[in-house]
Amino acid sequence: MQTIAILGAGLMGHGIAQVFAGAGHPVRLHDQDSEALASALERIRANLAPFLELGLMAPEQVQPLLDRIQLCPDLASLCQGADLVIEAISENLELKRRVFTQMEGLVGAQTILASNTSAISIGKIAQGLSRPGRVVGTHFWNPPQVVPCVEVIRGPQTEPAVMDAVMALLAAVGKKPVRVNQDLPGFLGNRMQHALWREAISLVEHGVASPEDVDAVVRYGFGLRLAYLGPLQTADLAGLALTRDIHRDLLPELDCAQEPSPLLEEKVRAGHLGAKVGQGFHAWTPERLRAVVGNRDKVLLKILREVLPRDQS
Ligand code: NAI
Repeated sequence: MQTIAILGAGLMGHGIAQVFAGAGHPVRLHDQDSEALASALERIRANLAPFLELGLMAPEQVQPLLDRIQLCPDLASLCQGADLVIEAISENLELKRRVFTQMEGLVGAQTILASNTSAISIGKIAQGLSRPGRVVGTHFWNPPQVVPCVEVIRGPQTEPAVMDAVMALLAAVGKKPVRVNQDLPGFLGNRMQHALWREAISLVEHGVASPEDVDAVVRYGFGLRLAYLGPLQTADLAGLALTRDIHRDLLPELDCAQEPSPLLEEKVRAGHLGAKVGQGFHAWTPERLRAVVGNRDKVLLKILREVLPRDQS
């Protein structure tokens, strides 16, 4: 697969375009919002700053990377000659279905169609298409130009050759693709992430600890090793008999609510919507928010620079 088309130049789409252009692919990018499209290259240029600062790319590589991205005024020019189209438009099933139906009439017979959906079933997106077997999920994590993992999701009809081709392409551009064999809500990562968030919110709700201390136990405790050892590796190192014994005692005690927590509902009702309004579980000043978000990519890249060479898988 050579030419990669990205539909949607928002938060995810422009970063995904950067990934493929950075690996030398010709990239096409389209967004129905002309401002989002026009600003994409400048946003990518800004994303490159921490890569340059850490010596992960040379200044003379910047312009050729940007030059490989062609901004397309419509869906037809986006699809023309594309070997893979990755859809990264708003998270809405009807919208996604509509563009997949349109794309089917515009792409070549061999083109693979992928969705970056966070939570919509790949089977539902592909429903009604004449060739649902070429539709696959490619769930990048934000920021996609930094986070290596991409979940590659097999819909009920996705052809095995499509899974293999997408896995190989992502590995070739330096990502860590993982195969998700069932089209489950939340795929792999969000299922685990939200199991943790449910318990974290429950501990605060029941007055067991402050939000600061709940976050600290992850950041300065078990979270520290998660970039190096996954949970199943950690269970193996601890020993599975011990893990079984802990589960016998602990699992009945964990939060297993089927609804969002009352504390979370109350915060949303009160308008405490998180960092963007200055109050969520924590209080956020604009300066603190800028510092945390501004440093994020550099911190993640530094962690990756240390961890990836030591990868033991
Ligand atoms: P966004 O709102 O930043 O960008 C979406 C872009 O799609 C907008 O620029 C919008 O103008 C454009 N768009 C909408 N309908 C269109 C159409 N019919 N044709 C062309 N362009 C269209 O959204 P974001 O965050 O980039 O999310 C995109 C997808 O990626 C969603 O499915 C989302 O669930 C998923 N995703 C988001 C993550 C995140 O952290 N934000 C993480 C992983 C996946």
